[in-house]
Amino acid sequence: MTGQPMLEQIEALRAEALAAVAVAGTPDAVRTVLGEHLGKKGRLQEVLRRIGSLAPAERGPVGQAANAARGAIEAAAEARERALREASESNLAESEWVDATLPGTRRPAGSIHPVSAMIREVEDVFLGMGFDLADGPWVEDDWHNFTALNVPPDHPARDLQDTFWLEDGNLLRTHTSPVQIRLMARGALPIRSVAIGRVFRNETTDATHEHTFHQIEGLLVDREVSVGHMVFVLRTFLREIFAQEVEVRLRPSYFPFVEPGFELDVRRGDAWLELLGCGLVHPRVLVAGGVDRSRYSGFAFGLGIDRLVLLRHGIEDIRHFTGGDLRFLRLFRWGGAR
Ligand code: DAH
Repeated sequence: MTGQPMLEQIEALRAEALAAVAVAGTPDAVRTVLGEHLGKKGRLQEVLRRIGSLAPAERGPVGQAANAARGAIEAAAEARERALREASESNLAESEWVDATLPGTRRPAGSIHPVSAMIREVEDVFLGMGFDLADGPWVEDDWHNFTALNVPPDHPARDLQDTFWLEDGNLLRTHTSPVQIRLMARGALPIRSVAIGRVFRNETTDATHEHTFHQIEGLLVDREVSVGHMVFVLRTFLREIFAQEVEVRLRPSYFPFVEPGFELDVRRGDAWLELLGCGLVHPRVLVAGGVDRSRYSGFAFGLGIDRLVLLRHGIEDIRHFTGGDLRFLRLFRWGGAR
């Protein structure tokens, strides 16, 4: 056998492979063409397997032709693959580009509600004085909100607090004082706690009245607690909140759950500002809370947080607090004017 047919086969194979490479549409397709023609089981190998049947003198030219064909196919494949990759990258640049100079979406910054800010501040002050933070439910029962606080069912003091009654006989707490009963009923003494939270009154709203507002309740129960202790704690608290020395005075007043009971006023210039109710815990309340009144006594106080916020910021209408007007809330975006 002569080498001539084999040289022709190699030539044909090379032409076919180059044509296939030229139309391959993806880098993967190019590699498939390479495998079919130049792989171990590829067509070139098939031709070369028969090289042993040639006369020794004919083998050299066939081997050289095969190597030349392999080199040409590999080079064409490499060039095609590179061209395909470049094309797909420039497509990507076309289809996926972003304009990094466009302004981003502005997300409105939230702010801490002035009432929340005041609550945190008051909590900090009392924590600093060794009090802990207590809490109670918004939906209360008659016992905690009234009866245990020395306001029995037909007591006239119930009328002072217009109550949202629920159909099941429970109510929305009208003040934070019921937390006092819950604290005492836990049974751990002494008690030094404040509870801050929402209270609800079934009232017509106006600039100084809301149906939903916030109170701070304080309760201290220990041995030999006096009005002096109470005044000290309250004065310290108010000095921190007003950020200056404060002059206070006590006026006798009536709250069913304290005896004696007082209102505490703060001096503002020439005027006295009524700020809070307080007093020594009424013995009946101690008993209702399960506290041994022969060994323990205590003081309690309660005041509206909203009032403090109105004073601090010179806000004239309490209805702004739950009104949801963003223009109002934005005034406090950076902590608010103080
Ligand atoms: N609970 C009273 C109210 O809502 C405020 C109050 C007065 C709380 C005197 C007290 C207190 O603890 O001793 O009007």
